[in-house]
Amino acid sequence: MIKLGIIFGGKSEEHEVSILSAASVVEAIAGTKYEPVPIGINREGRWFSIDESMAGLETLDDSRVKTLIPRGDGDSRRARDPGSLLAPLDFAFPVLHGPYGEDGKIQGLFEMLNLPYAGCGVTASAVAMDKIFTRELWLRAGLPVCRHTTLRRRVHDANPSGERGRVERELGYPVFVKPANLGSSVGIGKAWNAKEMETAIEEAFLYDDRLILEECVDCRELEIGVLGNEDSDVSAVGEIVPKAEFYDYDSKYRGGAKLLIPADISSETAAKIAALARRAYAALNAEGFARVDFLLDRRSGAVLLNELNTIPGFTAYSMFPLLWREAGVPYEVLIERIIGLGYERHHAKNNRESNNAQRRR
Ligand SMILES: Nc1ncnc2c1ncn2[C@@H]1O[C@H](COP(=O)(O)OP(=O)(O)O)[C@@H](O)[C@H]1O
Ligand SMILES: [Mg+2]
Repeated sequence: MIKLGIIFGGKSEEHEVSILSAASVVEAIAGTKYEPVPIGINREGRWFSIDESMAGLETLDDSRVKTLIPRGDGDSRRARDPGSLLAPLDFAFPVLHGPYGEDGKIQGLFEMLNLPYAGCGVTASAVAMDKIFTRELWLRAGLPVCRHTTLRRRVHDANPSGERGRVERELGYPVFVKPANLGSSVGIGKAWNAKEMETAIEEAFLYDDRLILEECVDCRELEIGVLGNEDSDVSAVGEIVPKAEFYDYDSKYRGGAKLLIPADISSETAAKIAALARRAYAALNAEGFARVDFLLDRRSGAVLLNELNTIPGFTAYSMFPLLWREAGVPYEVLIERIIGLGYERHHAKNNRESNNAQRRR
């Protein structure tokens, strides 16, 4: 049996989603050649060994899901050090969203341990988590993104009204204000005037020292899955229909949005999205899998890249797995392919290293 660690929970806002995603993965690999080894990280960042019976988790209600991972100091005696939990594993499958899970940090830990793992490597993960770096690489690759500008805390603080004036002249209203380095819509604001922009900037600076400000596109939101290392495959295209004004935290995690799969778009638009997604994936050197999110401008019909999520929601009812199911790849097969891609990268790296070591001898 291959000991497959499923690492979930974490400090992120998407803690609960992560638990549900992990439960789906555990359930999917039960009875295969993989032995699931669930490893939970609580909100304080402590690591725990979790009972395999979490396979039934998905049927539990919200409050019980939260209690699955011990919280607070009372439980800290049971906390283990990450190294001791990872050492017995053959393969790691991080199902962690946001900072510390999706941003290259835990991937670096796997690399140090020479442990094969699912999904993007250190650099692609870190870059994809950063909205400013992502846009710069995509622009350099000639890919379409919305008009935007950036703002550093130091520059802003030296001349707040001057900087706000500059943003206003460059982008007009409404304007989106986002911390460079966070997901799940936390810290993101939409401003319709100078006063609102001031508040939105203050709020966003609570989460990061660098901000990205974007023109507000009157848009539909389309998403596609990508799978692969050097070569990539793409899934069907889906559409998110938020109920709120934008796809904010509540609509994401409190059921306020509808998923339309496949999206009701022309075959030309679908083909364009597929081609752009593969180029966007390659431009960030993504590996394993990712979900690429687009904004479709209602007025001009332009297709704009918004972001690449290196660890998208992974419950059996999340967009990413459903897009693949629509493309004829069932959940279990999807997991299997992702594991295969992780091993492929691992073997390529180890072969390269041992060949080079031999050459030096
Ligand atoms: N430039 C934009 N124009 C219009 N809507 C946007 C724009 N940027 C973000 N949004 C809306 O805000 C949501 C969250 O923004 P996003 O960049 O995807 O951040 P996150 O990393 O939190 O998912 C999007 O799903 C979309 O609804
Ligand atoms: Mg998003």
